[in-house]
Amino acid sequence: MIDQTLLPTQTVFVTCTDYLEVASAIKTMIIRGAPAIGVAAAMGVAIGVQKSADPDADFATICDTLAATRPTAVNLFWGIERMRRLWASLAGKPVAEKQAAMIAEAVLVKDEDVAICKEIGRHGAPLVPDGKTVLTHCNAGALATAGYGTALGVIRAAVEAGKKIDVFADETRPFLQGARLTAWELMQDKIPTTLITDNMAGHFLKSGRIGCVVVGADRIAANGDVANKIGTYSVAVLAKENGVPFYVAAPISTLDLTLTDGSLIPIEERSAAEVTSVFGVPVAPEGVGVCNPAFDVTPNRYVAGIITEYGVATAPFEENLRALAAKAKK
Ligand code: MRU
Repeated sequence: MIDQTLLPTQTVFVTCTDYLEVASAIKTMIIRGAPAIGVAAAMGVAIGVQKSADPDADFATICDTLAATRPTAVNLFWGIERMRRLWASLAGKPVAEKQAAMIAEAVLVKDEDVAICKEIGRHGAPLVPDGKTVLTHCNAGALATAGYGTALGVIRAAVEAGKKIDVFADETRPFLQGARLTAWELMQDKIPTTLITDNMAGHFLKSGRIGCVVVGADRIAANGDVANKIGTYSVAVLAKENGVPFYVAAPISTLDLTLTDGSLIPIEERSAAEVTSVFGVPVAPEGVGVCNPAFDVTPNRYVAGIITEYGVATAPFEENLRALAAKAKK
């Protein structure tokens, strides 16, 4: 995996050779972004099983360790659950056969993720107004998935369809996913990109140049409330106020139908140091109180559509998301 804590100044690849290294990479955000975390977790389970002398005895510990890394992105738990189900179905088979099947499944999870992102792009591209700017927040790109991206997948697909668009990327304090990752990723693809600080979004949404907002998601409740990177809610409210459609692009695996609404989504609180310093340089007085929720929840009334690999859900979200999820089960 590419070390996302070092981009854009260094491009370093990290190889994890046991499940504890995968768990640590997720926790420290070497790998981040909901779908990428799901793929990494599935691969972590497969490596754990492969390396264990007694995988049946170790299986629960491997899964529980990976599940304890980050709380908000439901794709993490989805990836582990998929591997758990396969493991259960393999009971009684020779160990070597079980290990091989787990590795094949993890590779499949990765390959499917790329195909899913392409489908999200195909469904989302027609929603992007030609000749306008797309605003995005955080990084929901190739880096945050197994490739192509969700929100950035929609942007890539719109560009591939010949639309003349450019992108405004919120820098996304405190971890700077927009500045460090989205800007880097889009520039690699030569998609015209302008970096703005988070507090500039309202100014540009009011200006008339933004045609739509597209963001990713970490967990979507059954009623269409969306947890995504902190600051997304402010962007959604400002978009609505200014009549700019706010779209969420995410795979069905980001949907959590067990939660009736977004108030039930666990929000990760990260370290104070992420807020009080930038790249190790203090930007606040020592000892100041700090809050650092990594995500916020955007109520469904601000969401114009949720773009999935099975199509676009609009209000009423509960009904329409369940219908898309049913297609995924077939
Ligand atoms: O804390 P992060 O960087 O893992 O948060 C990522 C986001 O909030 C993304 O927008 C979300 O996971 C969608 S990624 C396709």
